[in-house]
Amino acid sequence: MKTGFIILILCFTMLHYGKAADECGCGVRHPQVKFCDATFAMIVQIHDKIQDDLPFSEETYFKGYMKFNVTVLEVFKPDEIAPDLINEEYSSLWTEASFCGVPELDVIETYVISGYFENVTDPTTDETIPLLMMNRCGLHLKMDDVTTYQMKGLTGGYAKQCNDCNPTDVYGALTHTQSGELEAELFPEAMTQFWTLDMQCFYNPAASMHNLVRDCESEQSICMRDAQTSKCTWDLNNDFMECFKQRGISVAYRHNPNSAAVRRPSDCKYLQSRKLKKKCLRNLRKKYKARKKQGRRIDQD
Ligand SMILES: *[C@@H]1O[C@H](CO)[C@@H](O)[C@H](O)[C@H]1NC(C)=O
Ligand SMILES: *[C@@H]1O[C@H](CO)[C@@H](O)[C@H](O)[C@H]1NC(C)=O
Repeated sequence: MKTGFIILILCFTMLHYGKAADECGCGVRHPQVKFCDATFAMIVQIHDKIQDDLPFSEETYFKGYMKFNVTVLEVFKPDEIAPDLINEEYSSLWTEASFCGVPELDVIETYVISGYFENVTDPTTDETIPLLMMNRCGLHLKMDDVTTYQMKGLTGGYAKQCNDCNPTDVYGALTHTQSGELEAELFPEAMTQFWTLDMQCFYNPAASMHNLVRDCESEQSICMRDAQTSKCTWDLNNDFMECFKQRGISVAYRHNPNSAAVRRPSDCKYLQSRKLKKKCLRNLRKKYKARKKQGRRIDQD
């Protein structure tokens, strides 16, 4: 009953979360997938933005696009365009002003973005001019929010996997893991019923968002081929495992403060707030005392 309710809430969260991206037909996607699907990926600093039409457009009254005036600081792909863009002091970056675009990016900020080219033709010279375009399906991460691990992905880690391994879509992950039971014996899988360390790189950002915990797969991992099993699997690096454990304990505790996932005082340190940590420790002390008392009673019998 409770699980059903949680799943119901999750579905709504997912609908809400996935909506903006879904209208553009791409769903919620891992940075690795965004990177691999993009024609280009780069770091840009935004100087200003104006609502405008694409160059040489006939609909000059429509102003359906946002034009960002940017400086390209680094190009991750493709290598061919890097010299031109880096040497250019200012470049234009375009996005739709409506729901499929990302017109909300902030002026002055620096972003990792990915996108594609759209060719326009100058009618006077017949010259084809490729415009830098981006939309909601691509990367648009504030530089401050990009993790060290993601930077490693951008500078080569993602590209290496592009024709090989791909994180599996969020909807697949939900149907795969929702049958998981919160049984103490299944620890740590039990407390992470929404996530899995299975082969195949399942991944569930909607559940992370719903539970107010970190999206460890996006932040700290790449889907890559395991040398020993030759299957695609998450890169189980230390930071990822730490994040995974922390997330599991947080969620287990949130759903049930008496969860078997929280056994030791050291488990309490994974909870998000100081208040929760204190409560968790208090709870464990109480349980410990109760156990001791029960033990004495048994001794006396
Ligand atoms: C882009 O921004 C810079 C700095 O604010 C400004 O000097 C330049 O004229 C702008 N370029 C365009 C094409 O708007
Ligand atoms: C844009 O033009 C270039 C050649 O100038 C071509 O290689 C590329 O495929 C074109 N892109 C699209 C989306 O049509």
